[in-house]
Amino acid sequence: MSQKTFYISTPIYYPSSNLHIGHTYCTVMADAMARFKRMAGYDVMFLTGTDEHGQKIQRVAEEEGMEPQAFVDKIVEGIIDLWATMEISYDDFIRTTEPRHMKRVQEIFKRVYDSGDIYKDVYEDWYCTPCESYWTEKQLVDGKCPDCGRPVEKVQEESYFFKLSKYADKILELYETNPSFLEPETRRNEMKAFIKQGLEDLSVSRSTFDWGVPVPNDEGHVIYVWIDALSNYITALGYPEVDDGITPEKYDKYWPADVHLVGKEIVRFHAVIWPALLMSAGIPIPKSVRGHGWLLLGSDKTKSGGKMSKSKGNIVDPVKLIDRYGVDALKYFLLREYTFGQDGLYTNETMINRINGDLANDLGNLVSRTTGMVEKYFGGKLSKPASAPEDEVLKALDENYKELAVSRRALVEEHAEDFGFNHALEELWKLVTGSNKYVDANEPWKLAKDEANRERLETVLYNMTEAIRIISILIYPFMHHTASEIRKQLGLDPEVTPADWDDAVKFGAVEAYSVTKGEALFPRIDVEKEIEELDRLGG
Ligand code: MSP
Repeated sequence: MSQKTFYISTPIYYPSSNLHIGHTYCTVMADAMARFKRMAGYDVMFLTGTDEHGQKIQRVAEEEGMEPQAFVDKIVEGIIDLWATMEISYDDFIRTTEPRHMKRVQEIFKRVYDSGDIYKDVYEDWYCTPCESYWTEKQLVDGKCPDCGRPVEKVQEESYFFKLSKYADKILELYETNPSFLEPETRRNEMKAFIKQGLEDLSVSRSTFDWGVPVPNDEGHVIYVWIDALSNYITALGYPEVDDGITPEKYDKYWPADVHLVGKEIVRFHAVIWPALLMSAGIPIPKSVRGHGWLLLGSDKTKSGGKMSKSKGNIVDPVKLIDRYGVDALKYFLLREYTFGQDGLYTNETMINRINGDLANDLGNLVSRTTGMVEKYFGGKLSKPASAPEDEVLKALDENYKELAVSRRALVEEHAEDFGFNHALEELWKLVTGSNKYVDANEPWKLAKDEANRERLETVLYNMTEAIRIISILIYPFMHHTASEIRKQLGLDPEVTPADWDDAVKFGAVEAYSVTKGEALFPRIDVEKEIEELDRLGG
């Protein structure tokens, strides 16, 4: 039987400046999903990349006195470095300036043209360069871009148009018959309302600048950057076939994509324009588009905030946070703190409190006190207890604890499946805090005082070690370093495999442990001092 496949993409980011924690948030979620699916036995294709053409990039490069290609090369290098530091497990990184992409974008344009859905006319309306979006007079809000609130420019030029209006009913029907195409529901309702206002045909070429993919057979025009960008999801799979030796093998295997993960302001492009284009070109549409909320930069004092953007100067640099707290702490915070689909406030204080509370106090303490006691009382060696305790109270205590441990995997899966990483981690942490309660209830340090309790002491420590093993498996998609570090301390293979994932529901799967206490997983942070230091360092 062939392996189940799962294809997930992030948006391809504009390399107009370095990425901030908002972009990181999206990529970290996609990475968690990709890793989670691999654990569940899927053959995963995880795609990310950069959206390098368009007027915005050309202008920024000019301002820097650089050629656009040299400019984007420099920024893209930083983006690739960032993902390497964060160990983002993508399978391919597509750049829209690569020939493999550009040739195929032209081919897609041709197909849409050949289907009769592209015509030439004169475009006269408004353009928001930072969003690379067209707007009609009536869509503007106070004469500004309705998405980002920045000034728009009047554009009048000859342009190719895509008959988007023709697809309005088909897209509405798609939302009706297949609601899971666009989630969460709030996003679907927004898009329905947007389409019902009336869809106009879309200008799909520009002729006043040249930083883009040339329109086939009309080199005075470049293809609209969003058409260029959206196509990445199939061009990266080698589709359509062009004469460059790359076969569409991956397309055959992975398309249609399972999920395009995107921020809420670009849902419109992915859930309206993209399916319309694909329908026109006779290509199957993706299975789903998921729109996440924004991270807003909040002040620790006012607890309110605005969307991060480089031009507003209110960004948080992920590299600074990784340097101070490590990759796993940042990933954990992003996945645990925010609810998918909603906006969330970022403040330094919330982040530090999460790290201190959940990681240093709860998880870190559990691992260090358990491994410490196993070393101290048993020289690191533990064996699986031969039988359950005879005492009914202790027996019930142990049974409840085991039940708590083995029930975690299903809950983690149920939530992670739906991008509910915060709930998945919350459920998992019930085992972390439950373990800390189990140790307090059993007081192994008291048991250790009397040789007669040796068997009970070993049972208690074995049970805790088993629970930690299960935790190490289930946190793997979200924090693989921590998972590996814990496993090394337990004398297990640091890598977690799908076979281990299966074992996360088996209590007592390990016959004997050989434990070595390691360094503290997450050192405690002094909140006040750290906030002062972060303020001093700035965004
Ligand atoms: N290049 C387009 C995407 C083309 S995809 C075919 C683009 N790039 S972007 O760099 O501006 O943004 C990419 C993604 O980053 C968007 O999904 C956006 O929502 C996300 N984020 C940018 N700032 C963000 C926050 N402050 N918070 C959360 N996500 C944010 O749009």
